[in-house]
Amino acid sequence: MGSTQIPFLDLIRPHLEMEEELVTVFRSALHTAGFIGGNAVLDFERAFAEFCEVDHCVGVGSGTDALRFALMAAGVGPGDSVLTAPNTFIATTEAISQAGALPEFIDIDEQTCNIDPDKLREYLETNCDRDAYTGRPISRRTGRVISAVVPVHLYGQPADMDRILKLADEFNLAVIEDACQAHGAAYFSQQQHTWRKAGSMGKAAAFSFYPGKNLGACGEAGAVTTNDLNLAQKIRAMRDHGQSAKYYHDMEGYNGRLDAIQAGILRTKLYRLAQWNSQRRERAETYQELLAPLDGVMLPVEPEWARGVYHLYVVRTQDRQLLQDSLKTAGIGTGIHYPIPLHLQKAYRALGYVKGDFPVTEKLASEILSLPMYPQLTRIEQENVVQAVRKCLATDRTTLFLNILQETLA
Ligand SMILES: Cc1ncc(COP(=O)(O)O)c(C=O)c1O
Repeated sequence: MGSTQIPFLDLIRPHLEMEEELVTVFRSALHTAGFIGGNAVLDFERAFAEFCEVDHCVGVGSGTDALRFALMAAGVGPGDSVLTAPNTFIATTEAISQAGALPEFIDIDEQTCNIDPDKLREYLETNCDRDAYTGRPISRRTGRVISAVVPVHLYGQPADMDRILKLADEFNLAVIEDACQAHGAAYFSQQQHTWRKAGSMGKAAAFSFYPGKNLGACGEAGAVTTNDLNLAQKIRAMRDHGQSAKYYHDMEGYNGRLDAIQAGILRTKLYRLAQWNSQRRERAETYQELLAPLDGVMLPVEPEWARGVYHLYVVRTQDRQLLQDSLKTAGIGTGIHYPIPLHLQKAYRALGYVKGDFPVTEKLASEILSLPMYPQLTRIEQENVVQAVRKCLATDRTTLFLNILQETLA
């Protein structure tokens, strides 16, 4: 098997380029013993709120914490149901369950890979009754009140928020954006005649700063963004054992703080985020240009109302396994995000979904392949990736299979 020459993700190059700045952050924490809270966290929160064009940012321990706290602070609790897409990372639904609610799934739009607003409307109108008092839908599937919807801006492409927000308004649902893959993505709101940043449109939004994200920490970190002061204050208490002042606990909370070293690192990297995002968009354009002439591979589609940040560059192909194996043989790393939709995961067997419930999600799960994508990816590396894709598509299946077998045994 060929050794990987073009990794799926290169986290070493960008960190080495910033080594001195990052070490300075760590050194300053050592010299002040400022490990938890303090100015480093406040500075980052202020800067990230500004970047997302929101009033408040609350740094927390991870994207999963951010989602869970945002849902709970928005009033989601035991006995509720929350709607989301089945093609997301399990953290989205873990947070829903940990808030005490049940996840219910809505299929996705084939072009955007995000929750389909038409199917969302259909579900709310035909699979739910209305609570006469709150106007909220009651799911016939679970008998529970649906209190929120979590659109996921998957792969860094915004969901169709105008239509989701309109439905949420009609059905009295809280909208919590899962922006964990979408730092800096933008959506053109026809309603407001302006571009809106991911993380600024719902009641609150969750970001992950897991190292591989567009803005990644050197460890675990996350944040909630919101324009709602009351909600921000609740989350500040929640992340810190429910404290309003030291040892004054207004409620039980969690240990879910963003630590100061990660905040300092994120602040340093945030200066570069806009440039990194443009570089990702340029690499997406290059892939688009080089891959467009090839038959047998479908490219991501960006609607005119979306400005994605290409956390992942995901193509589709009928013979995904063969393409992935061929690229591996050529020394090119790839990923699948995600191979098994959540409604078919063992963890969610009790929800009672079966194969065939979400045909678009299921079809895509068998066809998607994430190609290498990061700001430091060079034109030559992209040409090599495309060359390997072309070679795979042009070679007959038997020869390819034998080549892969030979490489594997070598
Ligand atoms: C869509 C999505 N939601 C939630 C999360 C959870 O974030 P974290 O890993 O920081 O808890 C992730 C991160 O992988 C994600 O991609």
